[in-house]
Amino acid sequence: MFARSRGSACEVLAPAKLNLTLRIVGRRTDGFHELETIMAPVSLYDRLVYRPAEQEFRFRCESPGDAVVAPAGPENLACRALVRLAEAAGVEPRGDFLLVKQIPAAAGMGGGSSDAAAALRLANHAWRLNWSDAALAPMALELGSDVPFFLGGRPALCRGRGERIERLPRLPSLPIVAVKPPEGVSTPAAFAALGLSPGEQVDVTESGADAALAVATLASARWSALRGIVANGLQRVAERLCESVARVRREFESQDVVAHCMTGSGSASFAICRSMRHAQRVAARVRTQELGTVFVAATRR
Ligand code: C5P
Repeated sequence: MFARSRGSACEVLAPAKLNLTLRIVGRRTDGFHELETIMAPVSLYDRLVYRPAEQEFRFRCESPGDAVVAPAGPENLACRALVRLAEAAGVEPRGDFLLVKQIPAAAGMGGGSSDAAAALRLANHAWRLNWSDAALAPMALELGSDVPFFLGGRPALCRGRGERIERLPRLPSLPIVAVKPPEGVSTPAAFAALGLSPGEQVDVTESGADAALAVATLASARWSALRGIVANGLQRVAERLCESVARVRREFESQDVVAHCMTGSGSASFAICRSMRHAQRVAARVRTQELGTVFVAATRR
């Protein structure tokens, strides 16, 4: 993720993400859940544009289409990131920021978190703060568990709440079809439904493969082995909270795809396909079922 200038304006593309694996390791005493997850950015983007404005600070959010509903004002996480960075840097927030949404909300695709990371990047550039990534990282984590991942913007194995990030340089680009049902899943509700007590550890083998095996299998792109690797420890609780998650799973089960599962805390799910043409074919069939908004994209390296 980087800021690029266009005349006096500049912009950042904020990618969505998919959790290719997600294991719940336990619940911490601070209430957050300890995770082990392989996340990859995908080629579906929100766009954050900055235009200089002398005194003024303005934040707007446009959501073309009806699939994306994101807060348009100061409660938007990207706007909160701008205000927080200005405060910490001791400057007045300034300029005209426009966020154009494409990533669905309450999907588990990291839209809000990616926008917040984009806001930190863009304002750091536009306001000439020159903060290093190491300086931005704690603020990113304060804004949300997935925000530090988006600052890096590369496939990674993430542990802890998501802030202990190990880059995975060798992952291939995977063609995917994602489906976002009309209903969302609330992240706090999904984690709470796991029913873990503070400090409780879980049997990690119940929610997917060991991280080293998962990384090696994804790197090799051996399609036949991927099915046993791609899994999400929140899928079962999300299906209880949102019937549509199970409907999408059954649809993918009936399709000839490499592997599939839910992303993050849902409600979107994705299927890995053998090629972009295969993904287009699968998407066309899934669209006839009217389960939600269907996206075709690829994971980024
Ligand atoms: O950090 P983020 O804002 O995405 O988290 C939203 C909520 O999801 C948290 O307040 C917490 O209830 C839950 N959560 C969790 N463990 C995580 C991430 C999120 O329990 N690793």
